Formats: sequence, structure tokens, C-alpha cells
Amino acid sequence: MDKLLITGGRPLEGEVRVSGAKNAALPIMCAALLTARPLQLTNVPMLMDVRTMAKLLAQMGVEVGEHSGGRIELRARAVTNPEASYELVKTMRASVLVLGPLLARCGQARVSLPGGCAIGARPVDQHLKGLQAMGATIAIEHGYMHAHASRLRGARIAMDLVTVTGTENLMMAAVLAEGTTVLENAAREPEVVDLAQCLVAMGARIESAGSEVIRIEGVRTLEGAAYGVMPDRIETGTFLAAAAAAGGRIRLTGAAPTALLATLDKLREAGARIKTGDSWIEIEMSGRPVAVSVRTAPYPDFATDMQAQFMALAAVGSGTAQITETIFENRFMHALELQRLGADISIHGNTAVVKGVERLQGAKVMATDLRASAGLAIAGLVAKGQTLIDRIYHLDRGYEALEKKLGALGARIERVN
Ligand code: EPZ
Repeated sequence: MDKLLITGGRPLEGEVRVSGAKNAALPIMCAALLTARPLQLTNVPMLMDVRTMAKLLAQMGVEVGEHSGGRIELRARAVTNPEASYELVKTMRASVLVLGPLLARCGQARVSLPGGCAIGARPVDQHLKGLQAMGATIAIEHGYMHAHASRLRGARIAMDLVTVTGTENLMMAAVLAEGTTVLENAAREPEVVDLAQCLVAMGARIESAGSEVIRIEGVRTLEGAAYGVMPDRIETGTFLAAAAAAGGRIRLTGAAPTALLATLDKLREAGARIKTGDSWIEIEMSGRPVAVSVRTAPYPDFATDMQAQFMALAAVGSGTAQITETIFENRFMHALELQRLGADISIHGNTAVVKGVERLQGAKVMATDLRASAGLAIAGLVAKGQTLIDRIYHLDRGYEALEKKLGALGARIERVN
């Protein structure tokens, strides 16, 4: 099993290109199910989750082209097997995103319930409630969701809570439904907007994606399209938090600064100097960061996917930070690992109180989920001595060659097994 070996204490210097967004690429790949025409994608990151999604779609009969240089072509001439098996779904919860497109395209779907996840229960009740409102019948049998709909009908759906993939699933179901669908309390994340833009390029009629009310007018068929996936705002924020912790000066290209304004504000509060252009961000940090408090919430507020990274930053900051997680009920597992590195963190319900220490001490730690492993990598960059991070398959799910990119910025980091 691969591990990351990091020797801390070096600032980051240089330039790195941000990859395409995992959480935009995954739903957009599922959109290929909605048409028999080819969907040609660019800026698709080379990640474990993207390979898993490609495998899942291929099992359904989608022709999946060679994924190289960020390019991949998908074509669902026919959907021969509308099923997402437990074996694949258990490795990637985003598999649930095939449910809406399968129902829209072929009127049936057998999708394994995602099951548990390290960061929380993560039920899909809102996905099912919305699809049922559009006329689907869904039975849960032997751990699978068996869904049927002769033809989905447009409906007004008021979601009980903000859900990113729930909004995406229902939007993809609605684009081929009969009539108009209105999604209320919709997620406003940039990845939702990216999916909507791709669907519109395919001929869908969608208004005001990115606001809390999305209006979709169903059409009979969709065309293929060529579409470029947006930059990954969480990878961007991760590199910025790393530079704020380690010090130095880095420039990120191929980025979308307007997609992470809450993160940029918090980095400035931590003492970083940040400049931005249309597609680049430059951060300069000298001296010790200030430990800044954050409270996660749906976009445009501070992203839960940036919480672990900011806990690592606060761990070496001056002062005390309150890190409050309002999205997932168990997303502090990295706190226990950071404590092994000498961090002073105490957990009170959904708030972690982090008292910054001058220096962390390198140690062996274990990644527990995707963003926790990013937080541990940041801590390793600043800890005294060596930090060995185990179970970094979590990291490979969401970061394209993180050690190569950090190494190019001067970090002493290598993959060992
Ligand atoms: C998406 O997950 C992202 N994944 C997550 O990123 C991200 O952390 C999350 O949104 C929040 O921003 C992808 O886009 C593939 P939610 P998702 O539905 O859609 C509850 C990463 O690191 N909920 O917005 O699964 C749920 O339990 C991953 O890349 C219900 O109760 O998250 C959670 O507490 C981790 N019922 C909250 O809502 C539902 O039907 C938000 O979940 C759906 C969700």
C-alpha cells in the first residue's frame, strides 16, 4: 500500500497548473447517458474516481475512449445494462449520479445504495424524493434501489436541505422529462453550474443554475457536445493553504479564482498576500500564519472540503481557531491524526478548538478520507522531521499526482510503498 513520506520545513516556491474539477467531471461524465451522441470532454483530471466512473459507465454499455491529456470521449449509443453494482458504488458514492440520467434515458435503473462513509451517513433520500415527485417508482430491495418511470414528468421540488449531487441528479432527470421542473433550495456550487452549462451545450433548457431556484424545461432528445470541465477549486484551495502554512510564494495557473472567494478571504485573514487574474492566483506568505476560525456551509460560504486543510493551517497558526463543521456529522477524523503530530485540538460537538503551536513534530499518521489526507499532507510540509502518511489511496481519489506537484514547488515529498 502506497505511503507519502514528507520531510517538513521547506517553503513552497514556483508555479503549478490546477487540474480539472473532480466534482464537476463526475456528474458531467454521467450526462453522457442522456444522449446517443458523443460527449467530448477536456480538462478531465486523471484520478481514481474518474477511472471508476469510466468503468461504471462502460459496464452500462457506454463507449469510453482513451483518457489522455485530460481528454475523454463518451458515447452511449444504447444503454445495455442500467445497473450500478455494489462493488463499484461502495468505492465511490458519486455513482449515485447515474440514477437520474438512467431513468431519463431508459426509464429504469438498478443502483446499489451507497452504504456508509467515513465522514457521515450521507443518505440519498432527497434524490429519491425528487425522482418520485417526477413520477418514478423506487423500491429498495437487497441493498439496491430499483427505479422505474415510463416517462418522467416535470415537477416543482422543494428540497429539504442543500444537496450537491441531489441537485445534479434531479437536474439530469429533468432535462428529458415532460414539462417543466423547478428545483427549490438547490445547491449553488460551481460544479452544479458547470454541469448545467454542459447540459445546455447538449441542448437542454436550464435557467438560473447557481441560484437556489433552478428551472428546467424538458426536451425530447439531447445532442452530443464538446465541453471543458472547470478547474478544481478544492485542489486550488489545498495548494493555497499549503503555501500559507509552509510559507513562500506560489502561482496557480488554469484556476478559477471566483469559485473560491470565501477561501481567499480566509487566507488573507491568516496573513497571506493574494493576487488574482482571470485564470491565475498568486499567494505570498512570510512568517507564521494567524489561526483563523472557519464555519463550513453550502456555497458560496466556506467549503466543507476545505475544512481539514484549514485545521492543519490553524494547527501551526498564532492564536486559537474555532473550526465548525455544519455539513457532515463525522468530518474531524483528521484532528486525531494531527494530534499525533503535536497539534493542540479539542473537539466539542461539531466544533474543533485549535490552539496553534510553534512547530508540529513529524510522525506516522493515517489518511481516513480524501480531504483529511490533504490536511495531513499540509501538516507534514511544516512538521519538524519526517511524516509518513499511510492509506493514501484516499488522496489518489481526488488529487492528480499531488506529490509531483508539491515536489515541483520545492517540497521534500515522495511516494513509498
Ligand atoms: C458533494 O457530496 C461532494 N461530492 C462532496 O465532496 C462535498 O463534500 C459535498 O458535496 C458537500 O459540498 C461530489 O460532488 C461528488 P451533499 P454530496 O448531498 O452531494 C446530507 C469530496 O471530498 N444529505 O451536498 O454527497 C448529507 O448527508 C467530496 O470531493 C441528506 O441528508 O453531499 C450531508 O450531510 C466529499 N440527504 C449534506 O446533506 C440527501 O439526500 C450535504 O450532502 C443528500 C444529502
